[in-house]
Amino acid sequence: MAQNTRILLDNRPVGEATPGNFRLETVATPTLQDGQVLIRHHYLSLDPYMRGRMNDAKSYAPPQPLGEVMIGGTVGEVVDSRHPRFAAGDSVVGMGGWQQYSVVDATQPGALRKVDTTHVPLSHYLGAVGMPGVTGWYGLVKIIDPKPGQTVTVSAASGAVGSAVGALAKARGCRVVGIAGGPDKCVYVKNELGFDDCIDYRVHQDYLSLAKALKQACPNGIDGHFENVGGMVLDAVMLRTNAFSRIAVCGMIAGYDGQPLPMANPALILVNRMRVEGFIVSEHMEIWPAALTELGQLVGSGTFRPRESVAEGIESAPDAFIGLLKGRNFGKQLVKLV
Ligand SMILES: NC(=O)c1ccc[n+]([C@@H]2O[C@H](COP(=O)([O-])OP(=O)(O)OC[C@H]3O[C@@H](n4cnc5c(N)ncnc54)[C@H](OP(=O)(O)O)[C@@H]3O)[C@@H](O)[C@H]2O)c1
Repeated sequence: MAQNTRILLDNRPVGEATPGNFRLETVATPTLQDGQVLIRHHYLSLDPYMRGRMNDAKSYAPPQPLGEVMIGGTVGEVVDSRHPRFAAGDSVVGMGGWQQYSVVDATQPGALRKVDTTHVPLSHYLGAVGMPGVTGWYGLVKIIDPKPGQTVTVSAASGAVGSAVGALAKARGCRVVGIAGGPDKCVYVKNELGFDDCIDYRVHQDYLSLAKALKQACPNGIDGHFENVGGMVLDAVMLRTNAFSRIAVCGMIAGYDGQPLPMANPALILVNRMRVEGFIVSEHMEIWPAALTELGQLVGSGTFRPRESVAEGIESAPDAFIGLLKGRNFGKQLVKLV
């Protein structure tokens, strides 16, 4: 019986999340029942949405219950199976949570998916060729719907979602401008991800100054914007939007600790006849196959080389998660468990 070290939500944060909100424990993995599969997780995905689940508040998804294993995407290998479609050694992606092993009822549709690691490394199924990549695909393709030659901007550009948006927009012949925190991230966004330009928002005191930098980087204005952050970044982008521009509202990480994020110039939505649309990727399962195919091709061919921040060991998950919420990650934040 393998020992399973796991992390539970112990209490809810007031303001910022802290390591004290979590509790570590070790238990034996249970005996498998018919239809169940035992997975050894190789990587755990840490994602900003987890901060919202830690609150007991009305949202698009129910809160993470106290005293239960933190929710999270995982990739790993089947070590034991009592389901005919899964065998020991299979590489799989699922929602195993913040723990080393999980027992999955594989009879549940979509609970577990086999993945092919011939051209795409296993960890990328939690990032570029997983939920964050599909998120970028949905917002770009279904909301921004850019035409070749149009200008698309994206905030948190070096991150898991932002980097995918850039790769997908470049593949559609757009001018792509990133917004990211710090010179290292901006150099990476331009030189390795192939964006046309990238602006370091941290050197700007206010949104008017950032809007000036955007004017230089986007001489023809902004036709589409993919928003991951909110606040000053969104205010600056709004000032540079063209008539009939589209904003895909994907995330508002600048406000995840509860800060209000007022908008400076909402009248621009009217003046520029803009489409501003929020979305939740898990509510659009119909687009996942097409999105995963395109993302898999971009990564498999080496056209898109996503970066990862990898913390070691399940014990490191709380600190790595808190770091992600402060922008300390550089690319997709993972925890390596094997
Ligand atoms: N709608 C959906 O279905 C959906 C699905 C997945 C993700 N999302 C959202 O997409 C966004 C990106 O997610 P991701 O997984 O790709 O994360 P990520 O970009 O890999 O990491 C988060 C990044 O946010 C940036 N950031 C900007 N302002 C920040 C602030 N005030 N505080 C903290 N961080 C700040 C940081 O990058 P810089 O250093 O460059 O600022 C940080 O590295 C998040 O808002 C997330 O909630 C939405």
